[in-house]
Amino acid sequence: MYTADKKRYETMKYNRCGRSGLLLPGVSLGFWHNFGDTASYANMEKICRTAFDHGITHFDLANNYGPEPGSAEKNLGRILRENFKPYRDELVISTKAGYLMWDGPYGEWGSRKHMLASLDQSLKRLGLEYVDIFYHHRMDPDTPLEETMLALEQAVRSGKSIYAGLSNYDGEHLAQATAILKDLRVPFVINQNRYSIFDRTIENNGFKKTAAKLGMGIIAYSPLDQGLLSDRYLNGIPEDSRIRTDNRFLKESALTEEKLRQIRALNELAAGRGQSLAQMALAWVLKDSDVTSVLVGASRAEQLLDNIKALDNTKFEESELAEIDRICGEKNVQ
Ligand SMILES: NC(=O)c1ccc[n+]([C@@H]2O[C@H](COP(=O)([O-])OP(=O)(O)OC[C@H]3O[C@@H](n4cnc5c(N)ncnc54)[C@H](OP(=O)(O)O)[C@@H]3O)[C@@H](O)[C@H]2O)c1
Repeated sequence: MYTADKKRYETMKYNRCGRSGLLLPGVSLGFWHNFGDTASYANMEKICRTAFDHGITHFDLANNYGPEPGSAEKNLGRILRENFKPYRDELVISTKAGYLMWDGPYGEWGSRKHMLASLDQSLKRLGLEYVDIFYHHRMDPDTPLEETMLALEQAVRSGKSIYAGLSNYDGEHLAQATAILKDLRVPFVINQNRYSIFDRTIENNGFKKTAAKLGMGIIAYSPLDQGLLSDRYLNGIPEDSRIRTDNRFLKESALTEEKLRQIRALNELAAGRGQSLAQMALAWVLKDSDVTSVLVGASRAEQLLDNIKALDNTKFEESELAEIDRICGEKNVQ
């Protein structure tokens, strides 16, 4: 029987999600990889216990996380039942709908039909009465935005979700969605977008600025670029790494000579700051208050312990920022 560490809130830093009442840990745990039916249950359970014992109160899922799609929610459901029953009110659990989940015309995108049926399925797999955040997972070019937002409203009004969120939206659609949700008085508090030293899209397309102006939180996913921004690939491709064990989204071809050169240079810079490369990469995402939390994945508990230490130093000298940009061939936009 698991009992959470009494000291779990002593070191974690909690950040306010935009101008909302919701506080999230600086480091959150994602279930995209390593929680499907191909992974070891004992390892998943250990990762979740380690996370919670160190103040990581936020677990992020989606209907389709697996493999098989749905299995990450099912496995977390078991972990919650067997470990976290007394702690439900200390956890923020999110899920999403929008990517392909089941056959036929209602299995994906942003219709009211898809969104609400998917949320019901997720709750069943998780064994929960409600999630804390329900996201629309990706913009739908064909469904009227108002319909999708009304589905989020229904999710919240029915008590099946506490907050609403959007994922992978651009600045223009974020502004439109915010206006609709404000009218509907829906507690829309968070955006989930990809952001890392290697992926500056939300800086370059104005999303980061728009979100800050609207008082919205951002939770940055793949802040380690799926593991590239760590020491994982410095000396070849380990057999237990994501490139070798999964390969659905991170392919060997991503590891070009140029990328490896950048990783090595960043690793040296991190060492000079007294950080691991993973820690520096996470600190970089959190360096200003626009980002509420970094949403990391982990194949083992030790990685989480390494990542949490990023919060000890999220300050950068101007010269360090310029050097990171130079290494990556980026212009600093913010
Ligand atoms: N909304 C969306 O569309 C969307 C899309 C993608 C992801 N997400 C969310 O974001 C979460 C995180 O995404 P991600 O897994 O790509 O994040 P990530 O943190 O960039 O990558 C995680 C991987 O990096 C490696 N790693 C982590 N910590 C490490 C450390 N300290 N040292 C060395 N290697 C380390 C591990 O790889 P190995 O497996 O090789 O050990 C781990 O599986 C997902 O689980 C999901 O919740 C959302």
